[in-house]
Amino acid sequence: MLKEIQDRRSIRNYLTKEINKDTILDILQAGIMAPSAKNNQPWRFVIVSTDVKNKISLKMNELFGSNKTAEVIKTVPYLILVYNKDKEYFNHLSIGAAIENILLEATHQGLGTLWIGYIKKIEDYVKELVNVDYELVSAIAIGVKDEEPIVRPRLNLEDVLIDKS
Ligand SMILES: Cc1cc2nc3c(=O)[nH]c(=O)nc-3n(C[C@H](O)[C@H](O)[C@H](O)COP(=O)(O)O)c2cc1C
Repeated sequence: MLKEIQDRRSIRNYLTKEINKDTILDILQAGIMAPSAKNNQPWRFVIVSTDVKNKISLKMNELFGSNKTAEVIKTVPYLILVYNKDKEYFNHLSIGAAIENILLEATHQGLGTLWIGYIKKIEDYVKELVNVDYELVSAIAIGVKDEEPIVRPRLNLEDVLIDKS
């Protein structure tokens, strides 16, 4: 198995250390190399400002009470919003592939990431802030890790595989 697949973890504690923008662009480049249905590349990415990050974090705390995801959004240097450009049938699968590529490339670069689906709950508010008309799918936090979590439990292959060969 690829080392990055084994090493990737959801990181929820970050250092305040900055990351070079070019590194982030490199990581997003891995996203756009993902396969997509009919090669229609439905993903769109928005890198948000610190001000928007803070507002999103604040809104999440307001609506859902103090929570770890909101804390991550406030502390990471980069929050990437991931959008779906249209309503083609397989778009969400293609975008999931792009997000995973991004997480793995960031892992390869020694950085921590968090896939944030929770942001969907405040989609309307995010739209007011960033003024992008596409469908918000997820967000990705990217930063310098301040923890080394152990692997979260996985089902065994026998539990998820029906082998009829
Ligand atoms: C679609 C999706 C949405 C997720 N949304 C969140 C989220 O909003 N907040 C969070 O802390 N983790 C989120 N996660 C991370 C999962 O909790 C995590 O991947 C899972 O517990 C397994 O842990 P690991 O990533 O360290 O292997 C999300 C993961 C996926 C795939």
